[in-house]
Amino acid sequence: MPSRPSYLLIGALLTALVAIALISWTAWEMSRPVPVVQFGGVRSVAVAPSVQIGGPFTLTDHTGQTVTDEAWRGKFMLIYFGYGFCPDVCPTELQIMSSALDVLEDDAERIQPLFITVDPERDTVEFMADYVSNFHPSMIGLTGQTAAIQAAAAAYRVYFKKVEDDSSAEYLVDHTSFVYLMGPDGKFLTMFRAGAEPQDMARTVASYMGQ
Ligand code: NI
Repeated sequence: MPSRPSYLLIGALLTALVAIALISWTAWEMSRPVPVVQFGGVRSVAVAPSVQIGGPFTLTDHTGQTVTDEAWRGKFMLIYFGYGFCPDVCPTELQIMSSALDVLEDDAERIQPLFITVDPERDTVEFMADYVSNFHPSMIGLTGQTAAIQAAAAAYRVYFKKVEDDSSAEYLVDHTSFVYLMGPDGKFLTMFRAGAEPQDMARTVASYMGQ
């Protein structure tokens, strides 16, 4: 049976662990770029009207053409920021977007799905062309100079940061994972948390298209 000082030591260690966990959680919470409120059972997110999301961008599409956000005025845009080397979250989100578009059938023609890289160093035009072909046929991949990517990410309040890993030659990129729905006027409508059900995403998009 442990002596009394051991109990004290264990108690102190537990307290320290809880304190570290609390501080980490608080830091993580505070680093989240957008105040969000979840409504209903759908994983789409209501954002305070004072919070501006979206804005103009000039990037290069996966065929090498320079494009701006105005190219898709008149269409809804479903936008996701991520990177091709992402092991799990990004491919899952792009698959969810693609499945939601499949659920919408013919209405999907009114929506432009866009994948904007936060890792332009590795996600070149050639890479993007190959990568987006794994997802919905109408999906367009966008890359560009670092400054242009930073400007686009800032407009959408997307946080991203390269994470070096000593155990690997490749690096990861820590990044915000929301899917943004923008209206035919280019204005923000709503956004979806990572892991939304394609059916829910399709239903929410359809409700905005019906308005
Ligand atoms: Ni990712």
